[in-house]
Amino acid sequence: MEYKNILLEAEGRVSVLTINRPEKRNALNQATRDEILHALDSLHSSDQRVLVITGAGEKAFIAGADITEFEGRTALDQRGAMKQRRVFDAIEDCPLPVIAMINGYCLGGGMELALSCDIRIAGQNAKLGQPEINLGIIPGGGGTQRLTHLVGEGKSMELILTGDIIDAGIAYDLGLVNHVFPLQELRASTMAIAGRMADKSPVALRLAKESIKNANRMGVREAMDRETDLFCLAFTSEDKKEGVSAFLEKRKADFKGR
Ligand code: COA
Repeated sequence: MEYKNILLEAEGRVSVLTINRPEKRNALNQATRDEILHALDSLHSSDQRVLVITGAGEKAFIAGADITEFEGRTALDQRGAMKQRRVFDAIEDCPLPVIAMINGYCLGGGMELALSCDIRIAGQNAKLGQPEINLGIIPGGGGTQRLTHLVGEGKSMELILTGDIIDAGIAYDLGLVNHVFPLQELRASTMAIAGRMADKSPVALRLAKESIKNANRMGVREAMDRETDLFCLAFTSEDKKEGVSAFLEKRKADFKGR
């Protein structure tokens, strides 16, 4: 597939997916969503280990769903669009760790995309919010759920019911973003964190992500039992043998993802 709205580049074993519609503040239209889904699928069968998602330019990460697509759509059309396979769920289910590198406005569907990533790293210029309420609608890409899980009901209520846009410092205080860096350092610092993950066993990365995600999907007892199973699954991998041998031999492990 030839991409028109995104760029997908590899830097070693870290892939960077850039939403490339800076003149529209990287708003997510259907064509862009389709390309993101295609790119995510292509990574499943690659030997890439970590994915970073960002927006082109210095103004926006993603300024939300493309509002022009709302006009003229019936509720039934909209439901049909929303019932298709969704970018947010595909990111959450991506076997690779996914990092949102938030380089400006991160609003509405952009925030929901960031929330579906595993961690969020923001530039100091980042502005985040769920302003759907200003359009007379509500977050519909998982925002009411993922934001609530991440920051708690009270803060989620405030952000969604006021539509207020907050800066990176406040987002950090809320636990919404893991780190804030000056914009000039954002890419290098994010790639350094991604690189540290990429050095680990891809088998262990995948199983750890799955187990952490279970915390919001099932009861504690069941999730603990599943953790035991996933731990034992990791135990069967060649990477586990390599990791333990490397420790005992006092050398750096060379994980192959098997
Ligand atoms: N959907 C469609 N187009 C959008 C968009 C969106 N979510 N966000 C920005 N754009 C477009 C603008 O319409 C404008 O297009 P034009 O040049 O053809 O007029 C272009 O991107 C630049 O936007 P502009 O508003 O001029 O940029 P800005 O830097 O002054 O402001 C924002 C940036 C993000 C604050 C502002 O564009 C905005 O509020 N966007 C909507 C955010 C939103 O409500 N998102 C939730 C959607 S559910």
